[in-house]
Amino acid sequence: MTILGNPAPLVPRPEPAAMSRVLVTGGAGFIGSHFVRRLLAADAVDQVTVLDALTYAGSLENLGEAMLSPKLTFVPGSILDARLVAQRCAVTFAPGGRTSRGLPDRS
Ligand SMILES: NC(=O)c1ccc[n+]([C@@H]2O[C@H](COP(=O)([O-])OP(=O)(O)OC[C@H]3O[C@@H](n4cnc5c(N)ncnc54)[C@H](O)[C@@H]3O)[C@@H](O)[C@H]2O)c1
Repeated sequence: MTILGNPAPLVPRPEPAAMSRVLVTGGAGFIGSHFVRRLLAADAVDQVTVLDALTYAGSLENLGEAMLSPKLTFVPGSILDARLVAQRCAVTFAPGGRTSRGLPDRS
């Protein structure tokens, strides 16, 4: 094998962040509801809170049987309510945020 230039230094991969409690905003939408199902199926996740304003695009029907999961809590509300989103790590699918971003855990 020939390597041109300086090979990238070997950097150990960081451990995945613990995600036992996750807040998903926009979780009743198209992408968010699929993501919520994935989270609920993950052993490392203990609790998923969906915060969704249920706009024209959002519907509890998108979550379907996921609503029956004891791991899931649904909170109707807006991502603009800072009290609701500042408490946990958040992954957002609500339009308006340019990127999905984890927020610091302040609980
Ligand atoms: N679907 C795609 O192909 C695609 C492609 C690129 C980017 N995106 C982006 O990904 C995100 C999710 O896409 P999607 O297709 O699932 O959208 P969607 O419209 O199906 O879902 C958005 C969800 O956010 C909720 N929401 C809207 N405003 C809210 C607020 N203020 N607070 C809380 N919840 C609110 C809605 O009720 C809905 O459930 C969007 O930001 C979208 O622009 C989507």
